[in-house]
Amino acid sequence: LHIIHIAVEMAPIAKVGGLGDVVTSLSRAVQDLNHNVDIILPKYDCLNLSNVKDFEYQRNYLWGGTEIKVWRGNVEGLSVYFLEPQNGFFQVGCVYGRGNDAERFGFFCHAALEFLLQNGFHPDIIHCHDWSSAPVAWIFKDNYAHYGLSKTRLVFTIHNLEFGAQFIGKAMQYADKATTVSPTYSREIAGNPVIAPHLHKFHGIINGIDPDIWDPYNDKFIPVSYSSENVVEGKRASKEALQQRLGLKRADLPLVGIITRLTHQKGIHLIKHAIWRTLERGGQVVLLGSAPDPRIQNDFVSLANQLHSSHNDRARLCLAYDEPLSHLIYAGADFILVPSIFEPCGLTQLTAMRYGSIPVVRKTGGLFDTVFDVDHDKDRAEAQGLETNGFSFDGADVGGVDYALNRAITAWYDGRDWFNSLCKRVMEQDWSWNRPALDYLELYHAARKIE
Ligand code: ADP
Ligand code: GLC
Repeated sequence: LHIIHIAVEMAPIAKVGGLGDVVTSLSRAVQDLNHNVDIILPKYDCLNLSNVKDFEYQRNYLWGGTEIKVWRGNVEGLSVYFLEPQNGFFQVGCVYGRGNDAERFGFFCHAALEFLLQNGFHPDIIHCHDWSSAPVAWIFKDNYAHYGLSKTRLVFTIHNLEFGAQFIGKAMQYADKATTVSPTYSREIAGNPVIAPHLHKFHGIINGIDPDIWDPYNDKFIPVSYSSENVVEGKRASKEALQQRLGLKRADLPLVGIITRLTHQKGIHLIKHAIWRTLERGGQVVLLGSAPDPRIQNDFVSLANQLHSSHNDRARLCLAYDEPLSHLIYAGADFILVPSIFEPCGLTQLTAMRYGSIPVVRKTGGLFDTVFDVDHDKDRAEAQGLETNGFSFDGADVGGVDYALNRAITAWYDGRDWFNSLCKRVMEQDWSWNRPALDYLELYHAARKIE
């Protein structure tokens, strides 16, 4: 098959959150199964071009009275076309947050389809994502599906229904097949008015992570290579390096890591509560968080100052987006906490497991589908052919997070052999795209059969 993704994020060159990771990692997995994949992305001025190989100018074309320059390059082994309209739409800022995002991305979607047509591309599948490339769906059906691209079918993936529901509703209507990023989230949103009429073509497929991009055996950001065979030594060295880097001087104490966008979705009040609870239990906390909302940012700056006076030896809040540091935290933490209010899939709990860190999560969306509580979910795990792999809780109140976190920290203090064997076994679970990529291929094939 030939699949073309039209997207506004792509890791590592233009990543804001998990959508960027998925565009890259799903594409790589499908390409590895011998299919042809291209990606079309806006050429933001902020692109990190050091991660683009063989970057070169290709040609110009005109659409809607605007000249558009086309660049091509290779990112993580994938062929990417970059569209640079000469109207300055992608010149300032990075990805989102310019006030006219809908207008800019709408323009990009139309320009991308026009690019396919003018270049004689006839992909089997066009795959678009979230509200930002949702317009591809209806522009395609209105203007291209009966003319030029009549054999192409359209797949739309919802990564988060929280944003741009009206755009998502329109794309749901026009897509040949639609997905969201976990089976549980697909059920959670099935009753939403923009989803409910389209359940016959809507599927929940869990995301994977890219096992080469996230690989503790081969990760330039951590001090030693490790696999499940030497997880204890590998994590000990990583924890020391993390503590040293952040100036945390205490000897080996349980370390809770949090790597997140700091937004309402991620359970801000539960995160704050968990920080205090961990410290009360004698543990250490490292939070790496980026807050798009200045009020939340200020709130965490105050918390950081407070912790600086009271617990400078055991707590660090790094209020930034920092990819290299995220790798060291995944490797050096004992636990990764994800207390989300809702979570369509969540990638941090999957990455945590790849690095032998134990997830502590709220049971929602993809967190429910991927984390199986050591005390409560043995049967549910077995039904999936898995062993239990973490700690979880239900409610969105602080009692819930206490319940899971207390059990986790107690297990760390009281049963080091048991805990080490848990780390080894979570590392051996396969949360890559191996299985979900096959589900996508099945969906692509089913889409092609639609008349
Ligand atoms: P979402 O897309 O809702 O933010 P996901 O769990 O799907 O949540 O994906 C988040 C991705 O962004 C993960 O790859 C995670 O490691 C990364 N990430 C989140 N916050 C930061 C940060 N402050 N610094 C570096 N990476 C981050
Ligand atoms: C969204 C969701 C997150 C998901 C990611 C990738 O950002 O918030 O749960 O993992 O998309 O699909």
